[in-house]
Amino acid sequence: MLTVNKLSKSFGIRTGISAKQDFFAVHEVNFHLKKGVCLGLVGESGCGKSTLAKMLVGLLPKSGGEILYKGRPVEENFYNPYALQMIFQDPFSSLNPRICVGKSIGEPLKINKNKAQKISRKALREAVENILEEVGLEKEYYFRYPHEFSGGQRQRIAIARAIITKPELLVCDESVSALDASHQAQVLNLLLDLKEKYDLTYLFISHNLQVISFMCDEIMVMYAGEIVEQAPRKALFENPLHPYTKALIASAPYVGKPRQELVLQGEMPSLLQRRLGCAFASRCPSAQKRCLEEKPCLSGSADHKAACHFIG
Ligand SMILES: Nc1ncnc2c1ncn2[C@@H]1O[C@H](COP(=O)(O)OP(=O)(O)OP(=O)(O)O)[C@@H](O)[C@H]1O
Ligand SMILES: [Mg+2]
Repeated sequence: MLTVNKLSKSFGIRTGISAKQDFFAVHEVNFHLKKGVCLGLVGESGCGKSTLAKMLVGLLPKSGGEILYKGRPVEENFYNPYALQMIFQDPFSSLNPRICVGKSIGEPLKINKNKAQKISRKALREAVENILEEVGLEKEYYFRYPHEFSGGQRQRIAIARAIITKPELLVCDESVSALDASHQAQVLNLLLDLKEKYDLTYLFISHNLQVISFMCDEIMVMYAGEIVEQAPRKALFENPLHPYTKALIASAPYVGKPRQELVLQGEMPSLLQRRLGCAFASRCPSAQKRCLEEKPCLSGSADHKAACHFIG
């Protein structure tokens, strides 16, 4: 369904009165997303997950590489533009506080139709009421405003707005990270039910490994703008190859789990510094001279790859 080749995004930021510096927030990312699969993207804050997601749905222009949707560049706009939808991290800021939720949910359907296919007010209202019930809300909530809902309910509204145009691919950017554990579980189950019902494909972004392991069939691990490991869920959790993935799995909290043995020191390196070698070398417990001088490429078997010189 979606093929991404060497996709990059660079931002230019001011570093002085007239000085400007470019840096890569996403650097040469490659992946392939098959229909019906839930592909997870995990990585720490600032590694480029949202930037990648926004490029995929067309909210940010790319700086390099290509995005192929069903084999053709997305720029050709050959497909229904509403086939790709996104659910954002913060449901409160993604909803207009001055518009009642019924209108917010119906908006994409209204602008989706060209003049010849104009949707009547009655049909629009019915479609919104149906979708409200679909996501587990009352249809009487139509005239309520975003501040009159709980966080979990607001996320359901955001989901309703994303699926009302019957998309094929949903990009969920940290869609449950603002919710407490019980609401998280409810919203994740709702997303799984909708996946079955509408035959959806997901790119599911999260920094929470437990959420990723619950939802995803395949997982990509991102570090400093690059994909460092790609594998099916079972392989990634049972046999992580990259030292960063190992540290991420070791740091995931579980009730009753003994204190972790592998603790990463320091923080992700500044994206502004250009590096010769591996981005993870500064924090890697097994880094060697080669790691500082030579950039590792994704290698390994066809379905389990990692970017590390020493995966063997
Ligand atoms: N419009 C922008 N201009 C300049 N830099 C940006 C812009 N948007 C994002 N960045 C930078 O790009 C990097 C990646 O940001 P991004 O929002 O993609 O991270 P993220 O992985 O989604 O983090 P989080 O988990 O906290 O949401 C960060 O260093 C950020 O400061
Ligand atoms: Mg983000």
